[in-house]
Amino acid sequence: MTEQTSNVPMEKIVSLAQRRGFVFPSSEIYGGLSGCWDFGPLGIELKRNIKQAWWKAMVQDRDDIVGIETSILMARQVWEASGHTERMVDPLVECKNCHLRWKADDLQGTRCPTCDGELTSPKMFNVMFKTFVGPVEDSANVVYLRPETAQGMFVNFDNVLQSTRKKLPFGIAQQGKSFRNEITTGNFIFRSREFEQMEMEFFVKPGTDEEWFNYWVQTRFDWFIKYGLKREHLDLSEHPKEKLAHYAKRCVDITYLFPHGWAELEGVANRTDYDLKQHSRASGKTLDYYDDDTKEHYTPYVVEPAVGVDRPLLAFMCDAYAEEPDKDETRVVMHFHPALAPIKAAILPLSKKENLSAFARDIYKDLKSQLMVQYDDTQSIGRRYRRQDEIGTPYCVTVDFQSLEDKRVTIRERDTMNQIRIPVSELRKTLTAKLEGEEMFVLPPGGEIWKVERESK
Ligand code: GAP
Repeated sequence: MTEQTSNVPMEKIVSLAQRRGFVFPSSEIYGGLSGCWDFGPLGIELKRNIKQAWWKAMVQDRDDIVGIETSILMARQVWEASGHTERMVDPLVECKNCHLRWKADDLQGTRCPTCDGELTSPKMFNVMFKTFVGPVEDSANVVYLRPETAQGMFVNFDNVLQSTRKKLPFGIAQQGKSFRNEITTGNFIFRSREFEQMEMEFFVKPGTDEEWFNYWVQTRFDWFIKYGLKREHLDLSEHPKEKLAHYAKRCVDITYLFPHGWAELEGVANRTDYDLKQHSRASGKTLDYYDDDTKEHYTPYVVEPAVGVDRPLLAFMCDAYAEEPDKDETRVVMHFHPALAPIKAAILPLSKKENLSAFARDIYKDLKSQLMVQYDDTQSIGRRYRRQDEIGTPYCVTVDFQSLEDKRVTIRERDTMNQIRIPVSELRKTLTAKLEGEEMFVLPPGGEIWKVERESK
């Protein structure tokens, strides 16, 4: 891997996230709950946009993948068959002096990183959260909060196959919460105890799995670049054989240069036929595939691209973040991809005068029916631009007194700070086209060429 440092310290992202309403500590007024986070008004928009971009790429734009949503609580036998009850364990060590607990794999030396005290020998600790179904808290009623969404798709393999009549290769995709009682959490939302995953199980004919594996590594890598991660902040890391998960034949992590260093963003695993065979054996229900072409029954292999939502959210925030000179000052700007930006446009009337407000409000209402937009008429226009830059709003629409006469407004672009003046009648069409990445402006009736100028001093 290349020797580099991240472009932004974590404190700046954490501070912006809290200040502008992206991410708050969970239960903050009670001192917080470690490893849990709340998403504020802008954070939830960003999160939903990331999930939608993934869903579009993985389900809506494809003919060979279908979506599903399965329950968080599943029969206990699922986790016994999948091997999680026995093997989803981390080696836990405790400092004999300060009693802090650590995941042994995360430690460099053999002493406590906090006080240099002696450590106990590792004990295996299962990271699945336990709870009970029904009112009686006895061992017969124990269930687990799922530690991955994947098993919901394996146990529904036959339901999906029968109801959709899909042919191999095909995939089942799902987004949803997962829970792991991580020994150590940290680095902001990077490692949490409650987090969201976006996973896809791609079922293929055995023997074609290697090819599909490479395809999915490349496809997922390209997705991150498409939505704004910098190529030089992304890399691939192959798991050595001895570190592979119990179900995997091969695993490649897509890694990202987070502020705390290079770390896994997404994992692509070749899970072979392990899960389907385990569930077949344990449930007694045959989970195989009849190949019409070759007239044979076999258990498909599975290639799984598995990613959280929270880690990409942090990565997209880091690579969007910039501090740029602006006149005599510095502006903080989030260069989010337009599809991910929480707010698509802000309507900014230059005065609060009644006639101008009414005109600007009509524009706002018209846009709001289609786009996530904000209306802001407080403080100077310069400050309002800064506020929108800091949350990554791609376009500001300024409405001035001239607008009342000529029925035109100014669009100011976040990244270039260029301004163009266009007829209000063309605004919605133009913004939509620009948000979808079209280079050309929609020409107004009459073919007039719009003026492009730098933001005036
Ligand atoms: N089904 C396979 C699986 O769950 P994983 O590598 O353990 O594989 C997949 O998890 C992805 O889920 C990770 O690449 C990461 O993005 C996210 N993830 C896993 N544990 C997480 C945690 N404790 N906090 C936040 N995200 C997590």
